[in-house]
Amino acid sequence: QQKVGLVGWRGMVGSVLMQRMQEEQDFAHIEPTFFTTSQKGIAAPNFAGKDAGVLEDAHDIEALSKQDIIITCQGGDYTKAVYDDLRASGWKGYWIDAASALRMKDDAVIVLDPVNRKEIDSGIEKGIRTYVGGNCTVSLMLLALGGLFEQDLVEWASPMTYQAASGSGAKHMRELISQMGAIHANVKDKVEDPATAILDIDQQVSEFIRSAEYPSEQFGVPLAGSLIPYIDSQLPSGQSREEWKAQAEANKILGIQGSEVPIDGICVRVGAMRCHSQAITLKLKKDLPVSEIESILAKHNDWVKVIPDDRDATMRELTPAKVTGTLSIPVGRIRKLNMGPEYISAFTVGDQLLWGAAEPLRRMLRIVLE
Ligand code: HSE
Repeated sequence: QQKVGLVGWRGMVGSVLMQRMQEEQDFAHIEPTFFTTSQKGIAAPNFAGKDAGVLEDAHDIEALSKQDIIITCQGGDYTKAVYDDLRASGWKGYWIDAASALRMKDDAVIVLDPVNRKEIDSGIEKGIRTYVGGNCTVSLMLLALGGLFEQDLVEWASPMTYQAASGSGAKHMRELISQMGAIHANVKDKVEDPATAILDIDQQVSEFIRSAEYPSEQFGVPLAGSLIPYIDSQLPSGQSREEWKAQAEANKILGIQGSEVPIDGICVRVGAMRCHSQAITLKLKKDLPVSEIESILAKHNDWVKVIPDDRDATMRELTPAKVTGTLSIPVGRIRKLNMGPEYISAFTVGDQLLWGAAEPLRRMLRIVLE
């Protein structure tokens, strides 16, 4: 059995990865070693009945270089701290990474196998040993719209996102809940008294969410009761880094060289827990009937699910509340826009910790083990 080193398995993405690896019996196919940045020598966790001895030091290049495959969810700083030294030591193993640090390197493939299995296979054939999960919104968009991209039908796409708190991290998810609770606690008596005028309630809430008492250490500004139309750092282009990733990563995943498909929009944080949603405007290269577009999308992979553009079905099926914790990628609101017959809208939702982060990594592990 191949030796697999796991780093960052205790964090949020890592924990989802461990859940999925147990559900899919991945541990039966590997000899795992768990790495730690702080607790070397204590007993390793026992997942799926697999004894893994003690925790090893995640910065110990020699211990890392004994692995055939390393999967890390430890984050970009960790990758930057060890990756070059590990490769410089002569290590030729597979590095499978959730962080963005190595994503755009020429000798790394972004993994999303239902969309780019060919790119992955040709990478393995060429001797590429570094495989990185894509940005969550990019992966979720490509799983939803994969059929149209595969058939080269997209002239351009403009995704406007509604991104969940989890994309910022576990502490941010907690803060979102604290904010929700704080609002209710602040105005509870008035909400429960039907005689209170709604504008009085609203004014109290508005003042409270702008006040220093509102818990906002993590986000820096209110999220619950508001939204944040900026994600990640600011770039000279005027885009946020999150927005820049859409075109750069999607084209790389799709293996498009030369004239890239333009993909650009605005990324917004909203008060959802772990599902990212996106409203996408697409210009297609052809005027296709909606029914044909739907059938192209539905056939592309096992997880995408076309939701008819019907009010009840949309409200039931196309929401973070419905999708959270599942691998389902519903896409709906598909209709022709007034701008012309090639312009269509779509709305999609996906769990950013599953298909957006952990799932492509564990599937890459299985591809390496094949
Ligand atoms: N950058 C994403 C977000 C999460 O902030 O929602 C990770 O891809």
